[in-house]
Amino acid sequence: MTRIGIIGGGLMGKEVASALARWCALEIQPDQPTLTAVADVSDAARAWFDRIPSIALKTADYRELLASKDVDAVYVAVPHDLHEQIYLDVLKAGKDLFAEKPFGMDLKQAMNVALSARTSGRFVRCSSEFPFYPGAQRVFQAVKSGQLGRIIEVRAGFWHSSDLDPSKPINWKRQKARCGEAGVMNDLGLHVWHIPMRLGWKPVRVHAQLNNIFPQRPDASGQLVPCDTDDNAIWNVDALIGGHETPMRIEVKRIAPGETNTWFIEVYGTEGSIRYSTKDPKTLWTFRREKEQMWQRIDLGHQTQFPVVTGPIFEFGFPDAFLQMWAAFLAERAGTLGDRFGCATPDECVLAHRLNEAALESSSTKSVVQLDL
Ligand SMILES: NC(=O)c1ccc[n+]([C@@H]2O[C@H](COP(=O)([O-])OP(=O)(O)OC[C@H]3O[C@@H](n4cnc5c(N)ncnc54)[C@H](O)[C@@H]3O)[C@@H](O)[C@H]2O)c1
Repeated sequence: MTRIGIIGGGLMGKEVASALARWCALEIQPDQPTLTAVADVSDAARAWFDRIPSIALKTADYRELLASKDVDAVYVAVPHDLHEQIYLDVLKAGKDLFAEKPFGMDLKQAMNVALSARTSGRFVRCSSEFPFYPGAQRVFQAVKSGQLGRIIEVRAGFWHSSDLDPSKPINWKRQKARCGEAGVMNDLGLHVWHIPMRLGWKPVRVHAQLNNIFPQRPDASGQLVPCDTDDNAIWNVDALIGGHETPMRIEVKRIAPGETNTWFIEVYGTEGSIRYSTKDPKTLWTFRREKEQMWQRIDLGHQTQFPVVTGPIFEFGFPDAFLQMWAAFLAERAGTLGDRFGCATPDECVLAHRLNEAALESSSTKSVVQLDL
């Protein structure tokens, strides 16, 4: 049994509480998590957790949660400027850590947290749930098997349009001081880089295009204030894949008209190709080199790496990916993940920050940046 504490009971803290409440749906139970404590500075956020009977401690001071003997592992979902300090405090308190991305505001902070993770010996992983969609897993497995032949090109991304409305009031995610210099890349980058990094694809050269589309937004009183984070980012990368430099285009966008939360990956190879997008979550597109040019559409169901009671023909969605990610986190922590896909590691988080820094440099110098990873 693992006793979980949550620091930050906002959007994602509540998502975790609901994933843990659906634990009974898992047919393979890698562990028995119990949510025992929540810390949030907001009274309203804490009050929401009244509906979870296993929570014995609700506090405005996260240090009180870290001092509790009834917490083994801590999930942290707070504004980015608090990540480094709270992650280090979690490790110092001797607890395991499930961090939210980004792993600190920038590369320096990420390296600091990764070092502390290593020296503390605690189990540390970072949240990135989209690779747990069945379609994303099929792409990962297809590439790993080698069945696609030589990879010709990769396109992947994460698009939404939650900032398309210029009258949307600013929040902490739209300010460099709280979100980080890397803006949208801090928010969405790890979600897209997780699979390419896990496949061992090595970026060697980056040219990035970053755009701050609405540099001002109204604050709560309606007054226009600076909105200084980049909304959209594109990495154009040469990546070493199977010994060949291969074009890879990775996009993260907060302003992508027509998209609500579209995560996608497309891998084109000489023998076969494969495409998956959460926009059409049941559909996997595959291609095999044959006489005719023909994509095959496969109707996917609920085929998950940790089986659940949900029938295999039923549709899969975001909360399901979250449940699968948590099962992977706790299984890996318990040493029972086996060859299943695991959550993002501290080293992968550091690498994601390196790619953010390369993009920032490329964008500010309008040049191609070499990477030595
Ligand atoms: N994995 C995902 O898909 C996903 C999606 C959205 C956000 N996130 C990440 O989750 C994190 C939180 O984002 P969110 O959307 O839940 O934000 P949010 O603003 O909804 O929630 C943040 C919460 O932190 C609380 N908080 C602030 N300071 C605190 C402190 N000192 N101690 C305790 N609590 C404090 C706030 O009161 C708020 O309730 C960010 O890192 C974000 O990038 C991840």
